[in-house]
Formats: sequence, C-alpha cells, structure tokens
Amino acid sequence: MEEKKIIVNNICCIGAGYVGGPTMSVIADRCPNINVEVVDLNESRIDAWNSEELSNLPIFEPGLDQVIKRTRGRNLFFSTNISEAIAKADMVFISVNTPTKKKGLGAGQASDLKWIEACARQVAKFSKGKTVVVEKSTLPVRTAEVIKKILGSYQIINENNEKEFCVLSNPEFLAEGTAIDNLENPDRVLIGGDDENSIKSLVNIYTNWIPEKKIITTNLWSSELSKLAANAFLAQRISSINSIAAFCEVAGADIEEVSKAIGSDSRIGSNFLNASPGFGGSCFKKDILNLVYLSRYFGLPEVADYWESVVRINEWNQKRISELIVKTLFGTISGKKIVILGFSFKANTNDTRESPAIRISKDLLEEGAKVVIYDPKVKSSQIINDLEPYSSTENCLSTQPHKNFIDGTWCFSEHLEDSFDGADAVVVLTEWPNFATIKWSSIANRMRSPGWVFDSRRIVNEKDVLSSGLNYWSIGRKYN
Ligand code: NAD
Ligand code: UGA
Repeated sequence: MEEKKIIVNNICCIGAGYVGGPTMSVIADRCPNINVEVVDLNESRIDAWNSEELSNLPIFEPGLDQVIKRTRGRNLFFSTNISEAIAKADMVFISVNTPTKKKGLGAGQASDLKWIEACARQVAKFSKGKTVVVEKSTLPVRTAEVIKKILGSYQIINENNEKEFCVLSNPEFLAEGTAIDNLENPDRVLIGGDDENSIKSLVNIYTNWIPEKKIITTNLWSSELSKLAANAFLAQRISSINSIAAFCEVAGADIEEVSKAIGSDSRIGSNFLNASPGFGGSCFKKDILNLVYLSRYFGLPEVADYWESVVRINEWNQKRISELIVKTLFGTISGKKIVILGFSFKANTNDTRESPAIRISKDLLEEGAKVVIYDPKVKSSQIINDLEPYSSTENCLSTQPHKNFIDGTWCFSEHLEDSFDGADAVVVLTEWPNFATIKWSSIANRMRSPGWVFDSRRIVNEKDVLSSGLNYWSIGRKYN
C-alpha cells in the first residue's frame, strides 16, 4: 500500500540565529499558506526578532527587514514557546549552533552536538503524529543516525504509537551579507534522505519559488558531507589566494593581476579570489576542523593533514599582517595609536565570529598599541566580548587623543570621522564600501607623521592616500 502524501501546514524552526531567522522568513514569504514558527531558548534574541523597530532585529542582513515586514504576524512568528510550536508542527527544522567542542573527546576539532541532541529530545518529547525532522544546521557526517536513534527510542516507548519521524538533511548554503538573495535565488537546494514522501514534502515547499531542476536529492550521508566539503573547498580557495598574495609581496607580482589571470580560466573561475586578512565567520574553520576530525576518525590521517593546512595558512596569514604592521612602524607600536576600520568578518554583516579583526587587534594590543575601532554595524558590547581580556578605555576620542588612552587598551569610535586624531596608522580589515570613499586629504593632517594606511582588502583609494602624504601598504604587492 502506498504511503499517504505528507501535507505541511505548520513548520517549526528551532534556533532563531543567522540561519533560522532569514531562512524561515523567506519560506514564510514564499509560502503564505504555511504557518512558520521560529523558536529559541534565548529570550532577548526572540524579543529582538519581535521588535517593532526593524533596525533592532538581532541580525543585520540586507533586505531582511522588508521580508520580516511582509511576513511577521501574518504567517511568521517568533517565540520561546518551544514545546507548543513542536507539537503543532508537521515539519521541524533544526537550526541550532554546532560549534567546535571546547572540552573532552575531540576538543578543538569535533563539533559539539549537545544543542542538536537537546533539540532531538525536545522534538521526540513534544511532537504529535508524523513529523518530518530536517537538519538545517551543518553537521558531522552520520549525525542523522544519532537523531534517528533518539527519536526512535521515543517512537517505541509511546504506547499509542502515535509518533512517527523521518529525518532529512537539508544543509544551508547562504552566505552572510547576501542571505536573502541566496535564499530567494539559490544555486541549488540539497536534500538528503531515504523516505520518498518526506523528501517530496520538502521539495514541494521549495518549488514554491525555486525551479525543480535546482533541487538535488541524495542519500543522507552525501548531503551531510557535501555541506562540509563545499565550505572546505571555498576556504581552501581563500588560503590558496592568500598564500599567493604573500608570494607576490616578496616576488614583485601583484595579486590583483594574478587573480585576474588565473580566474579567467573557466576551469578555475573568478569568484573567491580576493586576497584578505584571512577567512572568518562562524563556519569555515569549524567545518574544516570537523572534516579533519572525521578524517582521522575514519583512518585517513593524510586527508586530515591536507585540510588542516587550510586552517593553518589562514592563521599564519592573520599573524603575518600584525607582524608586518609592527615591523613597518619601526619595530614598536607601544603607545602608538592604530585605527582599525572594520571589525565584522566581512562587509554587510554585524557578525564578528572568527573575524580576523579579533586576532589582529589582540596582537596589536599585546604589543602595547592604543587601538581605536570603527565598524558601521558592530556594536561596542560585541567587541568588548571579542577582545577579552583586553579592556577598553573611555573618552579616548577627545581633542587630546592621548590623554586618557592607556597603552594596550582600545576604544570604540561611533563615527568614522572621529577616529583619526593623532593616529599613527589606519588598518582596513573589512571591505565596507564607505572605506573606499574616505577622503584621505582631510584625514592625513590629523594623523601623526609619518602616517600609514594598511589595506588588507585592496579597497582604499591608493592615489588619494599617497597624494595626501601618507604611506600605503596593500595586501599582495611588493613595496620597497
Ligand atoms: P546562531 O548561533 O546564530 O543561532 C543558533 C540559535 O540556536 C541560538 O539563538 C541559540 O540560542 C539557539 N538554540 C540552541 N539550542 C537550542 C535549543 N535546544 N532550543 C532552542 N534554541 C536553541 O547559529 P547560526 O549562525 O544560525 O548557525 C546555525 C547552524 O547553521 C550551524 O550549524 C551553522 O554551521 C550552520 N550554518 C550557518 C551559516 C551562517 O551563515 N551563519 C550558514 C550556513 C549554515
Ligand atoms: C560561507 C559560505 O560562503 C556559505 O556558502 C556557507 O553557507 C556559510 O559559509 C556557512 O556554512 O556558514 P560566510 O561565512 O557567511 O559564508 O561568508 P563568505 O562570503 O563565504 O566569506 C567567508 C570569509 O571569507 C570572510 O571572512 C570573507 O571576507 C572571506 N573571503 C571571501 C575572502 O577573504 N576572499 C574572498 O575572495 C571571499
């Protein structure tokens, strides 16, 4: 007898973060007949998702506010009532964090699945009837097995046998800063599973706005592994281009010319070839380390070493930039004022997780610099957390810039224009578009001479910097 078609009227998403929030907003927008409830343990995050003022949403993502405006209160809801949302749902997306384990077996490499396990137990306990459970978080290969086991144990102990589960893998490929565009027009949607009806129910949701030919279906393990592999390949490209950028700096080549030349080969392609202070973000490092851990676990140490080197080059690249700043500023930056422009890990997001700015700022603070930090979207409270144990200084932006500013401390600058008085150097770490249009001629005379601009993103107007009498260094080019 053929199984009954699964009709999805109610979706619950556990985890209202950088993935859960935007992903569910777009599903609600494109599927007005489906009720979508996004739940989270974090009450203040849910309050922020519900805030009337759309500029107070907990994450900044271009276009997100408009999607929320259309959907919130219509068929999109944010709440902390996890049990009720699960009980109502025909389909539950698990979209919680899966950071690298800090302690115990696999510490420093394996993913910590404690939040995933908690979700599986919550779903097992509160769900009713048939529930399709969708892994949206990025997970180690074969995690679906763990989830199935937890759900299965409840399925058996339930006397009326009224609970039934099916687990699918549906990894998310959105990039921060372009999340809405990526969700509305993805390159592909990947669904892994072994139950035809459940797969169909998820395909039916996506075909509301995505052509069916873009939907790839695979077995569970291929889907889980493809997500880790995609991130590893992307990160590998950045480590590759950054290693060549360092080579350019000693050999007299120019990384922009080299990127263009190699990217014109259609087999290589031109995307993701921008030299930088290194890749940041919550996922590349964590996902590669997870791949490294699994490779060793499955008896493939050479494979593990290969991927681990991608992370090592990234760390080396960040270190070499802070060392280069110290060397250029005559071997000491103690007491010198250095302005960091951009603290998020890339432009168009307020996310600072694994941002190269954290490592580089800490290195400069360790050397005794007075660090001024400006970012158009990152809040000072976030930077306080990120730069622990280094403390911030109050009122350092007064007209007497050095007065209250203690060596080895930092301060937050709310306005770009206020950042430069008495500075010895400016270091551009994020490619925010407004850094490209800074008028260096009006800034140079406020800095201490000789002043430097270090451009780790190749975004600054070099001619303007040089004609203002400042010195200039940019990544991937030789300077005498
Ligand atoms: P996040 O930390 O921003 O959000 C996760 C949320 O889950 C948090 O708000 C947390 O409070 C909540 N949570 C944890 N356990 C819970 C529980 N038991 N019940 C209810 N809520 C719970 O994380 P994120 O950036 O959204 O990433 C989530 C997953 O998606 C990760 O596996 C990540 O690797 C993957 N991913 C992230 C991105 C990205 O751009 N950030 C892109 C693709 C995939
Ligand atoms: C990345 C992937 O691009 C997404 O497909 C994936 O879903 C996501 O990780 C995830 O799993 O979390 P994200 O980290 O948001 O997305 O941003 P990217 O645009 O990939 O940038 C990552 C880092 O690489 C940033 O620090 C960025 O500045 C850096 N980068 C990127 C470069 O240094 N050079 C480039 O050419 C491109």
